[in-house]
Amino acid sequence: MLKIIKSKFNWFIDPPSEEEYEECVSDLLDHKLVGSMRGFIQHGNTSTLEHSLSVSYASYRFCKNFGLDFRSAARGGLLHDFFLYDWHADKSYKGYKGRHGIVHPRIALNNAEKHFELNKTEKDIIKKHMWPLTLSLPRFKESFVVLMMDNYCTLGEIMIWRKSLKKRIKLLFGF
Ligand SMILES: [Fe+2]
Ligand SMILES: [Fe+2]
Repeated sequence: MLKIIKSKFNWFIDPPSEEEYEECVSDLLDHKLVGSMRGFIQHGNTSTLEHSLSVSYASYRFCKNFGLDFRSAARGGLLHDFFLYDWHADKSYKGYKGRHGIVHPRIALNNAEKHFELNKTEKDIIKKHMWPLTLSLPRFKESFVVLMMDNYCTLGEIMIWRKSLKKRIKLLFGF
């Protein structure tokens, strides 16, 4: 029974490798515009690049373990927030109408399509990662994985930031 479970989920047998992950995303990471995401804050103290890398790596691991298209998940995850502006300061959203939460997947996809060759899954991952805020339903399992990991990483980033903020307040004001 255990053998069947192990082979089904491939969780214990084939641990994901850092080299394989790097190979999936290295061309993206070498691009200066992907590097520029380091300069934008996403949540709390976390930059958009750090956030996107966390989402990308977590999605890669999940998809690898469950026999899904891990390469597209890693690449789509890395580019899912490739909107390239500080959404806290710049409210123009590059001419798009609507709130950042709704328009940024389209902006990210347009940017990504300008600079990289994307497959159908990667496009769907980027375009639908804010579902259900953006109405159309994700088409691929990998899109759901990235969506889940995006929420998971966001929650972690906000919680860490709140903790450090509380610590700083305690240090400054003694409560
Ligand atoms: Fe996003
Ligand atoms: Fe995100």
